[in-house]
Amino acid sequence: MPLSEPLTEDTLGRPLRNLRISVTDRCNLRCAYCMPEEEYTWLPRARILRFEEITRLVRIFQGAGVHRVRLTGGEPLLRRNLDRLVAQLAALEGLEEVTLTTNGLALADLAADLAAAGLARITVSLDTLRPKRYRELCRRDGLERVRAGIAAARAAGLPLKLNTVVMRGVNDDEVPALLDYAREVGAELRYIEYMDVGGATRWDQRRVVDRAELLERLEQAHGPLTPEPTRGNAPAERFRFADGVRIGIIASTTSPFCDSCDRARLTADGRLFTCLYGREGLDLLGPLRAGESDERLGERLTRTWRERSARGAVERLALAERRALAAKPELDDDPHLEMHTRGG
Ligand code: GTP
Ligand code: 5AD
Ligand code: SF4
Repeated sequence: MPLSEPLTEDTLGRPLRNLRISVTDRCNLRCAYCMPEEEYTWLPRARILRFEEITRLVRIFQGAGVHRVRLTGGEPLLRRNLDRLVAQLAALEGLEEVTLTTNGLALADLAADLAAAGLARITVSLDTLRPKRYRELCRRDGLERVRAGIAAARAAGLPLKLNTVVMRGVNDDEVPALLDYAREVGAELRYIEYMDVGGATRWDQRRVVDRAELLERLEQAHGPLTPEPTRGNAPAERFRFADGVRIGIIASTTSPFCDSCDRARLTADGRLFTCLYGREGLDLLGPLRAGESDERLGERLTRTWRERSARGAVERLALAERRALAAKPELDDDPHLEMHTRGG
């Protein structure tokens, strides 16, 4: 049973609702906007949360208000038997949904098992439809496998979203083509502004194609867009074309949603971050493995959420000169600053 705590709100009155769990910091791609280097300081294997530990923590997080869980990475499908974790989480009473964000490389073989385990929906990252460009951007071959993964997810009946990080001079000429593809596979496409998160060491303002420009380009290619009602506390603002097709824009770089942000992040080694840009995380693995009770662990994380005042992306917006959040040596010293460690 979840702990019967009253609503847990932070110092700005934001409740805790969503938990993003990175199940591994490793990835089988090296995308330019996330993991541009070949080698990284990886989290020690012995410190990676086991499935039972994750499930126990989620139960405790439920007591503090969490009712949705998204599994992320690194690349989450690198964790063997991930469908077993999905099944454990999907069986938790009161949890509304378990979802997954993946690069899709390993999805073709796993989609049916994930759906059978109770995965509610899936998001696949896809930044280009051109094999050569895929290889340059992600530094591995794999576009065909990703497309097969998308087809398998569809065949398994999983509601599907596609995430495209738009970078000027890299893939921005594919904005309309990606939409055609999304239509073809029945997915909702979200265009994401290139973000200056940890790990994006090559981030440059000039590469950002912002929300306004994206909308303009989409309307030019496909006709007028109508905004859909409020985005609530999800990062995507949704729009609809005249034929009913919906798209999302995630404008975290120029128009952040911090004021309604209800998400916490758990790293693969059990650290709780209350902001994508947060410097410090709360270690839950240590106390958990030292035998601390559910109740005490719940108190720890509730206290951390109550003390939360972070508005990371809004603070970035106020900087006079904006550049990459962290440099490589800093990231090597503290892998917890990486986007791939804190789950995107
Ligand atoms: P749903 O709304 O459930 O579909 O998922 P999502 O859009 O939150 O998840 P997804 O993993 O697809 O993330 C999409 C993009 O939003 C990524 O580029 C993330 O980095 C960005 N994003 C996700 N969560 C946050 C957040 O808390 N803060 C900011 N600033 N950006 C986020
Ligand atoms: N800017 C925007 N989105 C990013 N992602 C990873 N790095 C960045 C970045 N620098 C996206 C991935 C994935 C999601 C979890 O985060 O494309 O779809
Ligand atoms: Fe939430 Fe931090 Fe992202 Fe703002 S930057 S939306 S506070 S995680």
